[in-house]
Amino acid sequence: MATAESTNPAVMSAAVRRRAAVAPSVQVAAPSRREFLYYIWGASMALLLGQTSAGLIWFAFPRFKEGEFGGTFAFNPEELPSVGAAPTSVPAGRFHVTLTSEGLRALYGVCTHLGCLPKWVPTNGRFECPCHGSKFQLSGQWIEGPAPRHLDRFITTVTYADGTTLATPPDGGAIPLDLDRQITSIQIDTGARIIGELRG
Ligand code: FES
Repeated sequence: MATAESTNPAVMSAAVRRRAAVAPSVQVAAPSRREFLYYIWGASMALLLGQTSAGLIWFAFPRFKEGEFGGTFAFNPEELPSVGAAPTSVPAGRFHVTLTSEGLRALYGVCTHLGCLPKWVPTNGRFECPCHGSKFQLSGQWIEGPAPRHLDRFITTVTYADGTTLATPPDGGAIPLDLDRQITSIQIDTGARIIGELRG
């Protein structure tokens, strides 16, 4: 049944105005000091998380181009030295490729004492450091001087024409090569260094 309020426009608008007058006003409370600190803490955590994620992504993807120190070098198999001969040095990669009766190694060309650059001395058949006189064999083995360990090695991968591959063993030892088979690729990763063992 219709009421007087719903049928009479004048009565209805007055009632609406009354209800509006008594309706509670909506107020936005200012954040308390505790809430404000929570917001700051949350923003800081989000920022930290973002920075950590960006750092992980930066480390996860290669940052060096091929042929740049820190990246992979394609070493020409035709430049392999013969067994026991002077190493082939690649200054851009800071390494020496050596071949001994044990096999192939890519030696990091930085002295394990204080970081000078040992040179191959043909007359003595060894690497000699100009700074404090450490000496190393063609294999990278320490001979004498203050260097505490053998020369470091870079992980190397050799691929033969039939697709088989050989890689530097985890202890940094030589890759035994079969020189009667055709080598199609030698990849030297200057971003993957195996630390030389402490000398005895
Ligand atoms: S830096 Fe090579 S012996 Fe000291």
